[in-house]
Amino acid sequence: MRIPKYYKESFEMLVPKLYDFVVNISFFGNAKKIRLKAIKQIPKNSKKIIDLATGTGELAILTKKLFPKSNIIGIDLSNGMLERAKKKAKNKKLNISFLRRNIEDTKFPSNNVDAVIIGLALHEIPEKPRIRVLKKAYKLLKKNKVFVIMDLNKPKNIIFRNIFKLYLRIFEPDYNRANKFLDYDLERELKKIKFKYIRTSYHYLHSVKIITCKK
Ligand SMILES: C[S@@+](CC[C@H](N)C(=O)[O-])C[C@H]1O[C@@H](n2cnc3c(N)ncnc32)[C@H](O)[C@@H]1O
Repeated sequence: MRIPKYYKESFEMLVPKLYDFVVNISFFGNAKKIRLKAIKQIPKNSKKIIDLATGTGELAILTKKLFPKSNIIGIDLSNGMLERAKKKAKNKKLNISFLRRNIEDTKFPSNNVDAVIIGLALHEIPEKPRIRVLKKAYKLLKKNKVFVIMDLNKPKNIIFRNIFKLYLRIFEPDYNRANKFLDYDLERELKKIKFKYIRTSYHYLHSVKIITCKK
């Protein structure tokens, strides 16, 4: 499997044991609430759902709880994050497949999935591979099925924006990349790939956005 250079540079710095704790304090205990808002974009009849860059599996686990009969697959490159995800799912007695794959090239068949979700990962991936991930999501999906993205957004309020940027400086493995992402027009890129744009909602003082689109 090809391990991207940006992955080695940034993601190996993540500490799986601390990840959930840091995300939760970053959202002042609201991480689950925001994740649930993203998962609720997935239509009820979705049978096969893939969580790209699943990390410690938070999105995949909440998705399984909301879609107990569906086949949920979480993929990531980090062994440490995947181990943590598997442990959490096992403790909760949830049957989720956690697999080590590169999200740029998942090796899954095309037109085979009812929903794809990705949370808090795209801002950490450079632009070219990011576009490859978006294109991969498009390929994986069956026609008319949804892709949900939850990621960082530039807060409108100037004071909060500066606090938020300070937070990024402290916690992001690559501050410049994350900061540049705040000005990146994800919706435009999705439309270029031929996704049908549905909506964007903003949360947590506009610091997080959830984009829903369809193949
Ligand atoms: C910030 S974490 C996000 C985790 C999770 N989705 C969440 O909502 O908290 C980003 C994850 O992306 C994974 N990742 C980054 N690039 C990847 C790639 N090319 N293939 C697979 N996983 C990747 C990292 O290993 C890391 O676990």
